[in-house]
Formats: sequence, C-alpha cells, structure tokens
Amino acid sequence: MKMSKNYISKKFWKNKTILITGINGFIGGNLAKLLSNLGANIIGISNSSNKNKFLKYENLEKRIIFKKIDLRNFKSINNLVDKNKIDICIHLAAQVDVNIAKTDPLITYESNIVGTLNLLESLRIKKDIKSIIIASSDKSYGEYPLNKLPYRETYDLRPIYPYDVSKACGDLISRSYASNLFNMPIIITRFANIYGPGQLNFTALIPDCILGNLSLRKFVPRSNGKNKRDFLFVKDVCDLYACLSYNLYKNNDLKGEIFNAGTKHGYTVDTIVKKICKQMNNDNLYMKIKDEFHKQKTIGEIQHQFMTYDKLQKYFNWKPEFSLEEGLSITIDWYKKFFYKYDYKLFMGKK
Ligand SMILES: NC(=O)c1ccc[n+]([C@@H]2O[C@H](COP(=O)([O-])OP(=O)(O)OC[C@H]3O[C@@H](n4cnc5c(N)ncnc54)[C@H](O)[C@@H]3O)[C@@H](O)[C@H]2O)c1
Repeated sequence: MKMSKNYISKKFWKNKTILITGINGFIGGNLAKLLSNLGANIIGISNSSNKNKFLKYENLEKRIIFKKIDLRNFKSINNLVDKNKIDICIHLAAQVDVNIAKTDPLITYESNIVGTLNLLESLRIKKDIKSIIIASSDKSYGEYPLNKLPYRETYDLRPIYPYDVSKACGDLISRSYASNLFNMPIIITRFANIYGPGQLNFTALIPDCILGNLSLRKFVPRSNGKNKRDFLFVKDVCDLYACLSYNLYKNNDLKGEIFNAGTKHGYTVDTIVKKICKQMNNDNLYMKIKDEFHKQKTIGEIQHQFMTYDKLQKYFNWKPEFSLEEGLSITIDWYKKFFYKYDYKLFMGKK
C-alpha cells in the first residue's frame, strides 16, 4: 500500500512556528530545509554559530531565525521559550561525538542531560506547546546479545558508556515530563545511525570513510569491522520527524510513545566500508583498510545494533524510502561538491 503523506502538507506547516534545537547540526540543518520549504517559520538554536556551513551552503541562513543558545544555561532557553509562541519543538541538540564523550564526559552529560531538562522545563512552564519530539538514540538501549536484536521499544535501557548513558538519561527525563504528572505532548525517537548530506561529524563511519576515499585524510577504522550497525538516510529521518510531530500535534493520545527506526538490516562495518570504496572505485583502499581491521579492537562501544520500523509502520504506515546504495550515492556526490567549496579542515577538531 502506498504511504499517504498527509503530514507533508503546506497547508499544515505554513506559518507554524517550529523550534529546532541543534539547528547547526547535521539533522537539524536537513530538517530546517524540509520544514522551511513547507512554509514553516523556523527558530533554530545551537551553542555554536560558526562551525557548520550546511545552512549557508543550502541558502537557509536567511530563511530561519537563528539564536546562539547553550541549553546548559536555563535562563537563556527559558527566555527564548517565554518570548515566542512555539507550535512544535524538535529537540536534536546534543554533544554527539563519541570520542569527546570518552575523553570529556562532563560536557556530554551536561549538554545531553541538563540541556534536555532545561528545554523541557522551559516548555512545561510555558504550557502552550502541542508537539515535542525528543531525539534519543538506539545507543540508549545499551548492549543486547545478537539473538535479542532487533531492539524493541519495550526493551529496558541499560547503557554503560558515556554517550549512551547521556542519551538514556535525556530519554528517561523526557518520559517523566510525558507522564500523567506533567502530561506534556512528547514523543521520544530512538533511531539507528543516520547518514547523508550535511553530516560533518567525522567520528561517524560513513563521512570518515568517504573522506578517506577522497584522499582528504587517512581513514583509520575504530573497530575490527565485524560489529553490525543499521543506517538510515537523513531524508527518511526528516520525513519521519515531520510525520511524528504532525501526528502528535493532531492527536494528543500519542504522548509518551517511543518509536524506534532503522532499516531492519545490520550491516557489518566492513560491509559499509566495502560498499563505499566500491561506489568510489577504490578497491585498493578497501584492501588496505581490511588489513587495518585485523589490528583493531573495539573499546567503549556497543557491538551490534539494528532496528526495525514495525511500530512506525503499524501506527503511521511509515517505512524508509531510500536503500543504502541510493543513500550512499547521493551522500558521496554531496561530499564531493561540498569539499570542492570548503576546506575539510574547517570541520575538524572540537566544537
Ligand atoms: N547522527 C546520528 O547517527 C544519530 C542517530 C541517532 C540519534 N541521533 C540524535 O540526533 C540528534 C542530532 O544529531 P546530529 O547527528 O545532527 O548531531 P550534530 O552534532 O550534527 O548536531 C548537534 C547540534 O547540537 C548542538 N549542541 C550541542 N550541545 C549543545 C548545547 N549544550 N546547547 C545547544 N546546542 C548544542 C551543536 O552545536 C549541533 O548544532 C542528537 O540528539 C543525536 O543524539 C543522531
């Protein structure tokens, strides 16, 4: 059955005010593009204003209201929420770099836990918002044995590594705000790894490997290549955020729901690297990376993760549209064009 996309409707989005936290980031930028094209007014916040060139590259800067706000500061976010009539909030801001999380857990915990708390508390005080989507992550589940995968929304959260714990804490705090104590209209998303145009966090496998293929820097695998991961294309993810925020806006009974999303496929890191090298006509590089895999051990990361979209399909008849091959091809082309314009070194190092 063809999916009915009633949520991709200019009639609905026109003149609605959407607060996107983490707008300077990968998913925030892509989502701003989709919702702005549908006629929404976007207020975007991030703690950095100069690192990510995606909004500029996509000519989005003039179409959104950008505020530099650090969510760790309650007064700043509370002031913004207080002064604006916000219809929908999509909370994406987080410290997502797993290497920073391993070496600087404090900033990760503060941003991902206290940041989420400050946002929700501001929205609770303001009262009038109708739809809040909180980006948790598949990492919140922590490690489950391969025979228990794919993860189910009913599984307990039992993470142990810093980034994973920080996301699980934000997730639990959000559930408390959706409970019958506060009754806030909140949906929590736990998505698999996401990739696509605009991802400028090079600790993530796909951009890191594409950069290696473009000879911009050496790709050094972080694992032995055997761990399994699931990858969603960013256009599918933005479509899903539109779907969830629209449906929650229309139907308050969805408050407190949790939705996983993945493609149902667990690809080994080795397979992903092979596919990228093949699309970039670089079989020699793949052979070199394969040698590197033998030298690596994975420390501080979950072994295997993949997800289904069963619950999403049941509730909204939603499923991803892009195959991995299609998504990779679009992504590779995007990086080639982007790094023709910008020096990749601008995007390296701490945020
Ligand atoms: N990218 C993925 O593979 C993936 C998968 C599942 C879930 N998620 C979740 O989706 C969300 C967005 O991820 P992304 O890949 O776009 O990350 P990103 O790093 O590209 O963007 C994160 C944004 O948050 C902002 N930010 C960080 N700390 C902040 C703070 N204290 N105050 C205000 N802004 C702050 C950053 O400036 C940046 O703009 C995150 O919550 C992440 O946990 C991402």
